[in-house]
Amino acid sequence: MAQHGEGVIAPEDDAVHGGTTTGTAVEVAHENAGSPGTAVVPTDGVQNPGFPPHYPRRTDVDPKKDARAERQVSILFYLSIVGSIFAVAAYIAFPILPGDPGSIRTNNLLLGLGITLGLLGIGIGAVHWAKQLMRGDESVELRHPTRGKEETRERAVEIFKLGNEESGIGRRSVIRNSLIGALVLTPIPAVALFRGLAPASDPIKPLQHTMWAKGTRLTRDPTGAPIKASDVTLGSAFHVIPEGLNDKTDLLEEKAKAAVLLMRLRPEDLHVSAGRENWNYDGIVAYSKICTHVGCPVALYEQQTHHLLCPCHQSQFDITHEAKVIFGPARRPLPQLPITVDSEGYLVARSDFHEPVGPDFWEREL
Ligand code: FES
Repeated sequence: MAQHGEGVIAPEDDAVHGGTTTGTAVEVAHENAGSPGTAVVPTDGVQNPGFPPHYPRRTDVDPKKDARAERQVSILFYLSIVGSIFAVAAYIAFPILPGDPGSIRTNNLLLGLGITLGLLGIGIGAVHWAKQLMRGDESVELRHPTRGKEETRERAVEIFKLGNEESGIGRRSVIRNSLIGALVLTPIPAVALFRGLAPASDPIKPLQHTMWAKGTRLTRDPTGAPIKASDVTLGSAFHVIPEGLNDKTDLLEEKAKAAVLLMRLRPEDLHVSAGRENWNYDGIVAYSKICTHVGCPVALYEQQTHHLLCPCHQSQFDITHEAKVIFGPARRPLPQLPITVDSEGYLVARSDFHEPVGPDFWEREL
């Protein structure tokens, strides 16, 4: 056994290499537990199982198989060369012509085939080489300290001292302090530039409100046709947008906040909390379609259970219990839109949502 530096034990070479081992690094360290400052592996009683038995491969024992594997590896590498040359040749021979989508397809196809062959040839060849021809037994590589040699460390300190002497930074405190100040302030202009990339006005406020307001009719998405309460039959579900949304110039931004799902349940199936008694109309309820997890559209309604499912990460909301979360990563119920009907029997909003729609982020920002 030989010792290399502090705290490292190296077994003799013949104990490490080859399938038959007479000991391992762990076992050797364990034997020397009584020698303070030398063991690198704690003696915690865990037994080192040693190496698994080594079985020679066919290429180890049969020179013909060895030669064949060598040929196979070199053929794979040659195939890679052919693929790479083919890719370049195809790129030149089949250029992309402006206005010709067919030329893009041909060029990409041939280029892709050539590059694929080039990469696959190298990859498969290297794996085949390693598995069949490279040395196949296991060995231990001991970890040595990463600390530099004493001379190297002393030399480094000397260089630092010399630098200090030559620059005078230790002595010339005025220069040193002004340099520190300059270095600290140099990034400030970058901060100002990045600040300029932020929105001109508070971006949170517009997200806290939607187009819904008292008297806004509920209309079908995407036609904008108003919906009568009598149209909403038991068990049906409607994708809803506020009246006038289609005339907006920022239609998509507004829709991303105001999209709603409308469903009719039997009034006795609804569990309504205090203060929300008049938020539904005869069992018709409206909830934000924007998932409170990360904002996907909650568009799947399970009619029998009255569950809404978000397809992105499978959050489920129970409509009979004011859209409370019953499964998945969402942390708060879908906001409810208070609704009623107007004098013509059309469904209208009583107000905007009473809380921000969308991901939990906005709840924390309030
Ligand atoms: S966005 Fe709906 S569950 Fe993630």
